[in-house]
Amino acid sequence: MRKPIIAGNWKMNKTIEDALTLIEGLKLELADCMDVEAVVCPPFTALKVVGDEIADTQIKLGCQNMSSEDDGAYTGEISHTMLKELFVKYVILGHSERREYYKETDFWVNKKVKKALEKNLRPIVCVGEKLEDREAGNTESVVEAQVRGSLADITAEQFKDVVVAYEPVWAIGTGKTATSEQAQAVHKFIRGVIADMVGQDAADGLRIQYGGSMKPDNAKELLSQPDIDGGLIGGAALDARSFAAIVKAGM
Ligand code: PGA
Repeated sequence: MRKPIIAGNWKMNKTIEDALTLIEGLKLELADCMDVEAVVCPPFTALKVVGDEIADTQIKLGCQNMSSEDDGAYTGEISHTMLKELFVKYVILGHSERREYYKETDFWVNKKVKKALEKNLRPIVCVGEKLEDREAGNTESVVEAQVRGSLADITAEQFKDVVVAYEPVWAIGTGKTATSEQAQAVHKFIRGVIADMVGQDAADGLRIQYGGSMKPDNAKELLSQPDIDGGLIGGAALDARSFAAIVKAGM
């Protein structure tokens, strides 16, 4: 049995004060939520205050990026040591916005994934096709290349700490959700690719989240698909009630 995992990706939103308001609301809403793993990924500047707030709750702390290096002259970067000091457990890597705007390639995502696993942080590794890929019938080849590239050289044992997020780029922040059939088909495909890479057992244990305009009103339908094990939530994670409703849809 795979425990569903719902993660909120706050992106570049929320000042410290706003982050506190949101997490206080979430603590109330999710007080008795045990069957689903709920993760919040605030911006770096709010990790400390949010982490302090959730220290004695079931809610886990994640962040949105990490350097592939240990320390040194890397202006603007944040290391695994700095994140672990703040009790960060999960790190989103290879989000399509980082791939698109900051030119992160599978090579770099893979370096970061390896570093995260080596340092006992759990990567949430994002993959997903663009609209033109889907329209050209290339969804599977694009997603397969990202999965194989971003997760190269990860062992079956290490896969226990990996989460994959399938996020069709055309569905992110657009209000266009993949239908549950479209999403399920790609999730099943990804699990098959992982099985080919590291074996069926590791693939069966892997949690694969869907991301892209997941909202309280479509979450249940998506989460009821056999290969959809959670969600990576952007817009709807910025409001305590709507994020909590999605978490509860996974119960
Ligand atoms: P969205 O974002 O829920 O706003 O579409 C999802 C994501 O980018 O992770």
